[in-house]
Amino acid sequence: MSPVYVILIILAAFILLTLIWCLAEPFFLDFDRVQLTLSPSRDATSDELSIKKLSLLNKDINKEPDLRIFFFSDVHAEFCAISSKRICNALTEAQKSSQIDAVIFGGDIANDPDKCAVGYRYLNKISEWCKGYDIPFYGITGNHDITLKGASEAAGFTSLDNRAVDLTSRTTGSKIVLAGVSDSGRLNRVWKQMPLKRGSEPVILAAHNPDNLLHLDKDNRPDFMLSGHFHGGQMKLPFRFEHRFLRTKDLLPKKKVVEGAFDINGTTVFISRGLGCGVLPFRLFSAPEASVVEIYI
Ligand SMILES: [Fe+2]
Repeated sequence: MSPVYVILIILAAFILLTLIWCLAEPFFLDFDRVQLTLSPSRDATSDELSIKKLSLLNKDINKEPDLRIFFFSDVHAEFCAISSKRICNALTEAQKSSQIDAVIFGGDIANDPDKCAVGYRYLNKISEWCKGYDIPFYGITGNHDITLKGASEAAGFTSLDNRAVDLTSRTTGSKIVLAGVSDSGRLNRVWKQMPLKRGSEPVILAAHNPDNLLHLDKDNRPDFMLSGHFHGGQMKLPFRFEHRFLRTKDLLPKKKVVEGAFDINGTTVFISRGLGCGVLPFRLFSAPEASVVEIYI
């Protein structure tokens, strides 16, 4: 056999295996634990963008967290290979080790608003689980949800869109504010400000698109932020093709901020890869993710 044929066969086998893996990876749930602490520069008001990558786990922490939040995002229900039952099982597992204080959904119920009923069924299963354990279930809209009316009621969560609720530290009993902003979609983008003025209490902001942080008033940024939207790139292609040519409107991926924990301008940010898939039901080196986020004040 000529060397050209051998190379073509190897290339074809590589492409086939990659395609098979792209179809298989959406079924692999990465259920992780994340520890977030206050940034040492949380009162910074500089105009310059400052980004520092953080580890998901901090081995120097040897105390109880102030809050344990179960966070998941980007269900995209019609292209989601992780069933709601698996999320409920992950919740049960997390609850067994220690009490969960809140469950938060980071937006994007379905790719197609006409398929939202599939997403509502999915989220209602999680809502039922939360009710069974008397744990509050909050959510925000993602860019795919903006045309949905009454989504939070239909999906069974309490909307955090442009509003805030009070949570209580399990260690000190002090108040921690949980706030949210709504998404305005990719067209005619409007970035929402925090729905409250940050006072002495720490603030956790849920915002679907992490870029929202770059558009907040510099003297009113949250202490923590929980986001999704980027899907970890969803398909990590050579030369970061997906961010350079496919998702060009997002700013933070241009700074290599796509998934994980970061200190951005004094806010401690966690960006989930989410559960489902947008556009195509493929993932490549960006497995679905649900997380127990421990907040340390
Ligand atoms: Fe999404």
